[in-house]
Amino acid sequence: MKIRKHLESLPPYTPIEPFEILSARIGRSPDQIVKLDANENPYGPLPAVREALANLEFPHIYPDPESRALRKSLETFTGVPAEHLMAGSGADELIDLLMRVFLEPNDCILSCPPTFGMYSFDAELNAARCIEVPRRADFSLDMEAIREAVETHKPKLFFITSPNNPDGSVLDKQTIDALLELPTLIVLDEAYIEFACENLGASLSCIREVPARENLVVLRTFSKWAGLAGLRIGYGAFPLWLMPTLWKSKQPYNVNVAASVAAQVSLEHTDELVKIVELLKDERARLFAALEEIPYLKPYPTQSNFILCQVIGRDALELKTKLAQEYGIFIRYFSKPGLRDHIRISVGRPQDTDALIKALGFLIYD
Ligand SMILES: Cc1ncc(COP(=O)(O)O)c(C=O)c1O
Repeated sequence: MKIRKHLESLPPYTPIEPFEILSARIGRSPDQIVKLDANENPYGPLPAVREALANLEFPHIYPDPESRALRKSLETFTGVPAEHLMAGSGADELIDLLMRVFLEPNDCILSCPPTFGMYSFDAELNAARCIEVPRRADFSLDMEAIREAVETHKPKLFFITSPNNPDGSVLDKQTIDALLELPTLIVLDEAYIEFACENLGASLSCIREVPARENLVVLRTFSKWAGLAGLRIGYGAFPLWLMPTLWKSKQPYNVNVAASVAAQVSLEHTDELVKIVELLKDERARLFAALEEIPYLKPYPTQSNFILCQVIGRDALELKTKLAQEYGIFIRYFSKPGLRDHIRISVGRPQDTDALIKALGFLIYD
Protein backbone atom coordinates (compact mmCIF):
# COMPACT_ATOMS: atom_id res chain seq x y z
CA MET A 1 0.00 0.00 0.00
CA LYS A 2 1.33 3.36 -0.96
CA ILE A 3 0.35 6.82 0.27
CA ARG A 4 0.61 9.86 -2.02
CA LYS A 5 4.27 10.42 -2.83
CA HIS A 6 4.50 14.08 -1.75
CA LEU A 7 3.14 13.22 1.70
CA GLU A 8 5.93 10.78 2.45
CA SER A 9 8.47 13.56 3.05
CA LEU A 10 6.06 16.20 4.37
CA PRO A 11 7.17 17.32 7.86
CA PRO A 12 4.21 17.49 10.28
CA TYR A 13 2.85 20.87 11.37
CA THR A 14 3.88 21.62 14.94
CA PRO A 15 0.69 22.68 16.70
CA ILE A 16 0.46 24.60 19.94
CA GLU A 17 -0.67 22.31 22.75
CA PRO A 18 -3.81 22.84 24.87
CA PHE A 19 -3.99 23.50 28.62
CA GLU A 20 -4.58 19.93 29.76
CA ILE A 21 -1.56 18.58 27.86
CA LEU A 22 0.74 21.40 29.04
CA SER A 23 -0.64 20.97 32.51
CA ALA A 24 0.17 17.24 32.63
CA ARG A 25 3.62 17.82 31.10
CA ILE A 26 4.86 20.34 33.64
CA GLY A 27 2.84 19.14 36.61
CA ARG A 28 0.87 22.36 37.17
CA SER A 29 -2.89 22.75 37.23
CA PRO A 30 -4.35 24.75 34.32
CA ASP A 31 -4.98 27.76 36.58
CA GLN A 32 -1.25 27.86 37.35
CA ILE A 33 -0.37 28.14 33.68
CA VAL A 34 0.07 31.45 31.87
CA LYS A 35 -0.61 30.65 28.25
CA LEU A 36 0.82 33.32 25.98
CA ASP A 37 1.89 31.15 23.05
CA ALA A 38 -1.01 31.01 20.57
CA ASN A 39 -2.52 34.52 20.44
CA GLU A 40 -5.71 33.27 22.04
CA ASN A 41 -8.05 35.64 23.86
CA PRO A 42 -7.63 34.95 27.60
CA TYR A 43 -11.12 36.31 28.36
CA GLY A 44 -12.78 33.61 26.27
CA PRO A 45 -16.37 33.79 24.99
CA LEU A 46 -18.83 36.37 26.33
CA PRO A 47 -21.24 35.21 29.08
CA ALA A 48 -24.11 35.37 26.57
CA VAL A 49 -22.18 32.99 24.28
CA ARG A 50 -21.55 30.54 27.12
CA GLU A 51 -25.23 30.62 27.98
CA ALA A 52 -26.26 30.01 24.36
CA LEU A 53 -23.82 27.10 24.16
CA ALA A 54 -25.32 25.57 27.31
CA ASN A 55 -28.79 25.81 25.78
CA LEU A 56 -28.19 24.65 22.20
CA GLU A 57 -31.49 23.70 20.68
CA PHE A 58 -30.43 21.36 17.88
CA PRO A 59 -27.04 19.79 18.61
CA HIS A 60 -28.45 16.44 17.41
CA ILE A 61 -29.30 17.81 13.95
CA TYR A 62 -26.72 18.43 11.22
CA PRO A 63 -25.87 22.11 10.78
CA ASP A 64 -26.95 24.29 7.85
CA PRO A 65 -24.37 23.58 5.09
CA GLU A 66 -24.76 27.19 3.92
CA SER A 67 -24.51 28.76 7.40
CA ARG A 68 -27.35 31.07 6.30
CA ALA A 69 -28.15 32.66 9.69
CA LEU A 70 -24.49 33.32 10.45
CA ARG A 71 -23.82 34.75 6.99
CA LYS A 72 -26.77 37.12 7.41
CA SER A 73 -25.25 38.37 10.70
CA LEU A 74 -21.86 38.64 9.02
CA GLU A 75 -23.41 40.70 6.23
CA THR A 76 -24.54 43.26 8.79
CA PHE A 77 -21.23 43.16 10.65
CA THR A 78 -18.93 43.44 7.63
CA GLY A 79 -21.09 45.36 5.15
CA VAL A 80 -20.38 42.67 2.55
CA PRO A 81 -23.42 40.96 0.93
CA ALA A 82 -23.94 37.41 2.19
CA GLU A 83 -23.59 35.98 -1.32
CA HIS A 84 -19.85 36.81 -1.11
CA LEU A 85 -19.42 35.21 2.33
CA MET A 86 -18.55 31.70 3.42
CA ALA A 87 -17.94 30.43 6.96
CA GLY A 88 -15.35 27.80 7.76
CA SER A 89 -14.02 25.69 10.57
CA GLY A 90 -11.53 28.43 11.39
CA ALA A 91 -9.78 30.58 8.78
CA ASP A 92 -7.47 27.55 8.54
CA GLU A 93 -10.13 25.54 6.74
CA LEU A 94 -10.66 28.30 4.20
CA ILE A 95 -6.91 28.55 3.51
CA ASP A 96 -6.86 24.84 2.74
CA LEU A 97 -10.09 25.04 0.73
CA LEU A 98 -8.67 27.76 -1.51
CA MET A 99 -5.62 25.65 -2.18
CA ARG A 100 -7.67 22.54 -2.94
CA VAL A 101 -9.75 24.55 -5.38
CA PHE A 102 -6.86 26.22 -7.22
CA LEU A 103 -3.74 24.10 -7.08
CA GLU A 104 -2.70 21.37 -9.47
CA PRO A 105 0.35 19.33 -8.40
CA ASN A 106 3.49 21.46 -8.83
CA ASP A 107 1.61 24.75 -9.05
CA CYS A 108 2.79 27.38 -6.66
CA ILE A 109 1.58 29.94 -4.17
CA LEU A 110 3.49 33.00 -3.00
CA SER A 111 3.98 34.16 0.57
CA CYS A 112 6.18 36.66 2.38
CA PRO A 113 7.88 35.17 5.45
CA PRO A 114 8.29 35.47 8.29
CA THR A 115 4.56 34.87 8.42
CA PHE A 116 1.85 32.38 9.40
CA GLY A 117 3.11 28.83 8.84
CA MET A 118 -0.09 27.32 7.46
CA TYR A 119 0.31 28.81 3.96
CA SER A 120 3.46 26.86 3.15
CA PHE A 121 2.26 23.81 5.07
CA ASP A 122 -1.06 23.63 3.21
CA ALA A 123 0.65 24.25 -0.12
CA GLU A 124 2.87 21.22 0.44
CA LEU A 125 -0.08 19.20 1.67
CA ASN A 126 -1.73 19.99 -1.66
CA ALA A 127 1.37 18.87 -3.61
CA ALA A 128 2.17 22.46 -4.55
CA ARG A 129 5.18 24.66 -3.92
CA CYS A 130 5.40 27.78 -1.78
CA ILE A 131 7.54 30.52 -3.33
CA GLU A 132 8.79 32.77 -0.56
CA VAL A 133 9.72 36.43 -0.96
CA PRO A 134 11.12 37.39 2.45
CA ARG A 135 10.00 40.59 4.11
CA ARG A 136 12.63 43.24 4.77
CA ALA A 137 14.28 43.49 8.21
CA ASP A 138 11.54 45.92 9.30
CA PHE A 139 8.90 43.41 8.05
CA SER A 140 7.81 45.64 5.16
CA LEU A 141 7.24 44.01 1.76
CA ASP A 142 9.91 43.94 -0.93
CA MET A 143 7.60 44.98 -3.79
CA GLU A 144 10.24 44.74 -6.48
CA ALA A 145 11.13 41.16 -5.52
CA ILE A 146 7.41 40.33 -5.31
CA ARG A 147 6.72 41.62 -8.85
CA GLU A 148 9.68 39.63 -10.13
CA ALA A 149 8.57 36.44 -8.35
CA VAL A 150 5.02 36.77 -9.68
CA GLU A 151 6.32 37.20 -13.21
CA THR A 152 8.77 34.29 -12.95
CA HIS A 153 6.69 31.73 -11.04
CA LYS A 154 3.14 32.76 -11.91
CA PRO A 155 1.68 31.80 -8.51
CA LYS A 156 -2.01 31.02 -8.55
CA LEU A 157 -2.51 32.46 -5.06
CA PHE A 158 -0.65 35.09 -3.05
CA PHE A 159 -1.18 34.82 0.72
CA ILE A 160 -0.48 38.02 2.61
CA THR A 161 -1.20 38.81 6.24
CA SER A 162 -2.15 42.13 7.82
CA PRO A 163 -1.51 42.51 10.71
CA ASN A 164 1.25 40.02 10.05
CA ASN A 165 1.89 37.11 12.39
CA PRO A 166 4.47 37.09 14.09
CA ASP A 167 5.43 40.78 14.09
CA GLY A 168 2.05 42.55 14.14
CA SER A 169 2.79 45.09 11.38
CA VAL A 170 0.00 46.22 9.04
CA LEU A 171 0.10 46.89 5.32
CA ASP A 172 -0.91 50.38 4.20
CA LYS A 173 -3.61 50.94 1.62
CA GLN A 174 -1.12 51.89 -1.07
CA THR A 175 0.76 48.59 -0.69
CA ILE A 176 -2.44 46.56 -0.84
CA ASP A 177 -3.53 48.46 -3.97
CA ALA A 178 -0.15 47.66 -5.53
CA LEU A 179 -0.59 43.96 -4.68
CA LEU A 180 -4.03 44.00 -6.29
CA GLU A 181 -2.45 45.10 -9.57
CA LEU A 182 -0.59 41.78 -9.74
CA PRO A 183 -1.94 39.04 -12.02
CA THR A 184 -2.81 36.60 -9.22
CA LEU A 185 -5.51 36.06 -6.60
CA ILE A 186 -4.61 38.03 -3.47
CA VAL A 187 -5.67 36.28 -0.25
CA LEU A 188 -5.49 38.90 2.47
CA ASP A 189 -5.50 37.25 5.89
CA GLU A 190 -6.96 39.68 8.43
CA ALA A 191 -7.04 37.27 11.38
CA TYR A 192 -5.92 40.05 13.77
CA ILE A 193 -7.45 43.15 12.12
CA GLU A 194 -9.78 43.82 15.08
CA PHE A 195 -6.75 44.76 17.20
CA ALA A 196 -5.30 47.17 14.63
CA CYS A 197 -7.66 50.14 14.92
CA GLU A 198 -10.89 51.37 16.49
CA ASN A 199 -14.22 49.77 15.62
CA LEU A 200 -12.94 46.20 15.43
CA GLY A 201 -10.77 46.91 12.39
CA ALA A 202 -13.59 48.44 10.32
CA SER A 203 -11.63 51.46 9.09
CA LEU A 204 -8.57 49.43 8.09
CA SER A 205 -10.04 46.20 6.75
CA CYS A 206 -10.25 45.63 3.00
CA ILE A 207 -13.23 43.29 3.32
CA ARG A 208 -15.68 45.82 1.87
CA GLU A 209 -13.58 46.04 -1.28
CA VAL A 210 -14.09 42.39 -2.14
CA PRO A 211 -17.36 42.78 -4.12
CA ALA A 212 -15.75 45.38 -6.40
CA ARG A 213 -12.64 43.29 -7.13
CA GLU A 214 -12.13 40.15 -9.13
CA ASN A 215 -8.87 39.12 -7.46
CA LEU A 216 -9.30 39.78 -3.74
CA VAL A 217 -10.21 37.35 -0.97
CA VAL A 218 -10.26 38.50 2.66
CA LEU A 219 -10.12 35.96 5.51
CA ARG A 220 -11.19 36.70 9.08
CA THR A 221 -11.70 34.65 12.23
CA PHE A 222 -13.55 34.61 15.56
CA SER A 223 -10.58 32.88 17.22
CA LYS A 224 -8.78 35.98 18.42
CA TRP A 225 -11.01 39.00 19.10
CA ALA A 226 -14.12 36.97 20.00
CA GLY A 227 -12.34 34.32 22.11
CA LEU A 228 -13.66 31.33 20.15
CA ALA A 229 -10.41 29.61 19.08
CA GLY A 230 -11.48 26.26 20.53
CA LEU A 231 -14.76 26.26 18.64
CA ARG A 232 -13.12 26.75 15.22
CA ILE A 233 -15.03 29.43 13.39
CA GLY A 234 -13.77 31.78 10.70
CA TYR A 235 -15.10 33.30 7.50
CA GLY A 236 -14.03 34.80 4.24
CA ALA A 237 -15.26 37.24 1.60
CA PHE A 238 -14.70 36.03 -1.96
CA PRO A 239 -15.39 37.31 -5.48
CA LEU A 240 -18.74 36.08 -6.79
CA TRP A 241 -17.22 34.11 -9.67
CA LEU A 242 -15.48 31.85 -7.15
CA MET A 243 -18.47 31.09 -4.93
CA PRO A 244 -20.08 28.19 -6.86
CA THR A 245 -16.77 26.30 -6.88
CA LEU A 246 -16.18 26.94 -3.19
CA TRP A 247 -19.68 25.77 -2.28
CA LYS A 248 -19.31 22.50 -4.12
CA SER A 249 -15.77 21.86 -2.87
CA LYS A 250 -16.21 22.34 0.86
CA GLN A 251 -17.27 19.61 3.27
CA PRO A 252 -21.08 19.91 3.58
CA TYR A 253 -21.22 20.25 7.38
CA ASN A 254 -17.96 22.09 7.92
CA VAL A 255 -19.30 24.59 10.48
CA ASN A 256 -20.73 22.88 13.54
CA VAL A 257 -23.84 24.05 15.38
CA ALA A 258 -22.01 25.24 18.50
CA ALA A 259 -19.48 27.30 16.54
CA SER A 260 -22.19 28.87 14.44
CA VAL A 261 -24.34 29.85 17.43
CA ALA A 262 -21.30 31.18 19.32
CA ALA A 263 -20.34 33.39 16.38
CA GLN A 264 -23.89 34.70 15.93
CA VAL A 265 -24.31 35.54 19.61
CA SER A 266 -20.88 37.24 19.58
CA LEU A 267 -22.07 39.42 16.70
CA GLU A 268 -25.15 40.40 18.73
CA HIS A 269 -22.87 41.73 21.47
CA THR A 270 -20.08 43.49 19.61
CA ASP A 271 -20.24 46.42 22.07
CA GLU A 272 -19.04 44.05 24.83
CA LEU A 273 -16.37 42.56 22.59
CA VAL A 274 -15.09 46.05 21.74
CA LYS A 275 -14.51 46.57 25.47
CA ILE A 276 -12.46 43.35 25.68
CA VAL A 277 -10.45 44.24 22.58
CA GLU A 278 -9.76 47.70 24.06
CA LEU A 279 -8.72 46.06 27.33
CA LEU A 280 -6.25 43.88 25.42
CA LYS A 281 -4.94 46.89 23.49
CA ASP A 282 -4.33 48.77 26.77
CA GLU A 283 -2.59 45.70 28.15
CA ARG A 284 -0.50 45.49 24.97
CA ALA A 285 0.80 49.01 25.67
CA ARG A 286 1.62 48.12 29.27
CA LEU A 287 3.31 44.85 28.27
CA PHE A 288 5.31 46.60 25.55
CA ALA A 289 6.62 49.23 27.97
CA ALA A 290 7.55 46.54 30.50
CA LEU A 291 9.34 44.42 27.87
CA GLU A 292 11.35 47.47 26.80
CA GLU A 293 12.75 47.57 30.33
CA ILE A 294 14.08 43.99 30.13
CA PRO A 295 17.73 44.41 29.11
CA TYR A 296 17.93 41.25 26.97
CA LEU A 297 14.74 41.88 24.96
CA LYS A 298 13.95 44.18 22.06
CA PRO A 299 10.18 44.30 21.43
CA TYR A 300 8.88 45.31 17.99
CA PRO A 301 5.96 47.71 17.59
CA THR A 302 2.76 45.77 16.93
CA GLN A 303 -0.87 46.36 16.01
CA SER A 304 -2.02 42.93 17.04
CA ASN A 305 -2.58 40.92 20.23
CA PHE A 306 1.03 39.73 20.44
CA ILE A 307 4.49 41.21 20.66
CA LEU A 308 7.54 39.87 18.84
CA CYS A 309 10.83 40.33 20.67
CA GLN A 310 14.42 39.81 19.66
CA VAL A 311 16.40 38.07 22.40
CA ILE A 312 19.81 39.68 22.75
CA GLY A 313 22.88 38.09 24.27
CA ARG A 314 21.22 34.92 25.52
CA ASP A 315 19.70 31.73 24.16
CA ALA A 316 16.05 32.27 23.17
CA LEU A 317 15.14 28.58 23.35
CA GLU A 318 16.59 28.28 26.83
CA LEU A 319 14.61 31.37 27.86
CA LYS A 320 11.38 29.86 26.54
CA THR A 321 12.10 26.53 28.27
CA LYS A 322 12.91 28.15 31.62
CA LEU A 323 9.76 30.27 31.52
CA ALA A 324 7.70 27.12 30.96
CA GLN A 325 9.41 24.79 33.40
CA GLU A 326 10.19 27.15 36.25
CA TYR A 327 7.28 29.59 36.02
CA GLY A 328 4.52 27.82 34.03
CA ILE A 329 4.59 30.61 31.43
CA PHE A 330 4.28 29.56 27.79
CA ILE A 331 5.47 31.75 24.95
CA ARG A 332 6.32 31.05 21.30
CA TYR A 333 9.91 30.59 20.22
CA PHE A 334 11.14 30.85 16.62
CA SER A 335 14.27 29.56 14.98
CA LYS A 336 13.35 30.24 11.34
CA PRO A 337 15.31 32.39 8.91
CA GLY A 338 14.67 36.07 9.69
CA LEU A 339 13.59 35.11 13.20
CA ARG A 340 16.64 33.58 14.81
CA ASP A 341 16.59 34.30 18.55
CA HIS A 342 13.08 35.66 18.55
CA ILE A 343 10.13 35.01 20.83
CA ARG A 344 6.49 36.01 20.45
CA ILE A 345 4.37 36.81 23.48
CA SER A 346 0.57 36.98 23.28
CA VAL A 347 -1.11 39.78 25.18
CA GLY A 348 -2.88 38.37 28.22
CA ARG A 349 -4.66 39.72 31.28
CA PRO A 350 -2.93 42.16 33.69
CA GLN A 351 -2.05 39.27 36.03
CA ASP A 352 -0.44 37.40 33.09
CA THR A 353 1.71 40.44 32.28
CA ASP A 354 2.68 40.76 35.94
CA ALA A 355 3.70 37.09 36.19
CA LEU A 356 5.68 37.25 32.94
CA ILE A 357 7.52 40.46 33.77
CA LYS A 358 8.38 39.19 37.25
CA ALA A 359 9.80 35.96 35.78
CA LEU A 360 11.74 37.81 33.05
CA GLY A 361 13.14 40.04 35.79
CA PHE A 362 14.35 37.04 37.83
CA LEU A 363 15.90 35.58 34.70
CA ILE A 364 18.12 38.68 34.23
CA TYR A 365 20.38 37.15 36.87
CA ASP A 366 20.14 33.60 35.58
C1 LIG B 1 -2.41 34.88 10.37
C2 LIG B 1 -3.34 33.83 10.84
N1 LIG B 1 -4.31 33.41 10.02
C3 LIG B 1 -5.18 32.44 10.38
C4 LIG B 1 -5.07 31.84 11.61
C5 LIG B 1 -5.99 30.71 11.95
O1 LIG B 1 -7.20 31.17 12.38
P1 LIG B 1 -8.34 30.14 12.80
O2 LIG B 1 -8.18 29.89 14.26
O3 LIG B 1 -9.60 30.88 12.46
O4 LIG B 1 -8.16 28.91 11.98
C6 LIG B 1 -4.08 32.24 12.51
C7 LIG B 1 -3.97 31.58 13.82
O5 LIG B 1 -3.04 31.70 14.56
C8 LIG B 1 -3.18 33.24 12.10
O6 LIG B 1 -2.18 33.63 12.90
